[in-house]
Amino acid sequence: MKTLDCTRFSIFGLIAAILGLQPVLADEVNIYSYRQPELIQPLLDEFTNRTGIETHIIFLQKGMIARLEAEGTRSPADVILTTDISRLQNLVNAGLTQVVDSDILKQNIPTNFRDPEGEWFALTLRARIVYASNERVSEPVLTYEELANPEWNGRICTRSGTHAYNLALISSVMNHHGMDQTKAWLQGVKDNLARKPQGNDRAQVKAIWAGECDISLGNTYYMGLMVSNEEQKAWADAVRIIFPTFVDGGTHVNVSGMAMAKHSPNESNALQFMEFLSSMDAQQIYAEVNHEYPVHPDVALSALVESWGTFEPDNLNLDTIGANREQALQIVNEIDFDG
Ligand SMILES: [Fe+2]
Repeated sequence: MKTLDCTRFSIFGLIAAILGLQPVLADEVNIYSYRQPELIQPLLDEFTNRTGIETHIIFLQKGMIARLEAEGTRSPADVILTTDISRLQNLVNAGLTQVVDSDILKQNIPTNFRDPEGEWFALTLRARIVYASNERVSEPVLTYEELANPEWNGRICTRSGTHAYNLALISSVMNHHGMDQTKAWLQGVKDNLARKPQGNDRAQVKAIWAGECDISLGNTYYMGLMVSNEEQKAWADAVRIIFPTFVDGGTHVNVSGMAMAKHSPNESNALQFMEFLSSMDAQQIYAEVNHEYPVHPDVALSALVESWGTFEPDNLNLDTIGANREQALQIVNEIDFDG
């Protein structure tokens, strides 16, 4: 009987191989995600369809590092999905990721959007841009630098300077101008604020809609979220996106990305999943549901995202943002940006 079973199995395996299917053995990959279920599920379904590998996903609001540390070598986590370069780097710095060396990942993800050591990989991009009042702002273009100019006095809204999105932007300013000039710039922006930093990115657009300010800083995908929300559609209709650039560079982008967990119990499945996420098909799905930009330059944008216009991402490697982060936070505190 045993021989028969083996024979049947190998025949099945042969047929599966001919059909291009993956092995039918019970296979799984465990994902820890800061990204919301509805953004991820279509990708998980597609991955299982293609590979037969089951996905188990745990969604976390916070505490990823504490959880992985507590689980230690017994952690079931294979792949970690998160947004923001600082969160990816914090995982790496805590020793909770491992190096992945994959030609597919290297091909699909441009060098400046993956860790030089191979410990994190970006999947989508979001630009940090200016939401501008359709009624009260006529400028077609802006630089980040000129947000500190007197013409914007009393006209800017933003969330807290200590939020990861703003710290990444300030870190990028430091990369272009150094610490002293960045501090002076941020003081100039603070002097131009219409109100104390508060709320999230969408709350700033609401404030533009309500006439409290004329421009705000925000991430691009919030436009997509607002236009598809009954209450927020009016806020979105009151503004347009301006892609600012640095005087000597492109537009500041941040990422969503992935890493392989240090103690991944299913490493080869984890690798397959990561390579799948980097594929053009998967990036198209992922970017579309998230209203983001695929990192793969050949993947088409969603019609909505494309309607916002085009931009050149700042070409600095995102890794350098992490190096500046502490100093960026120091500047924010020194000038009491939120005060
Ligand atoms: Fe966000």
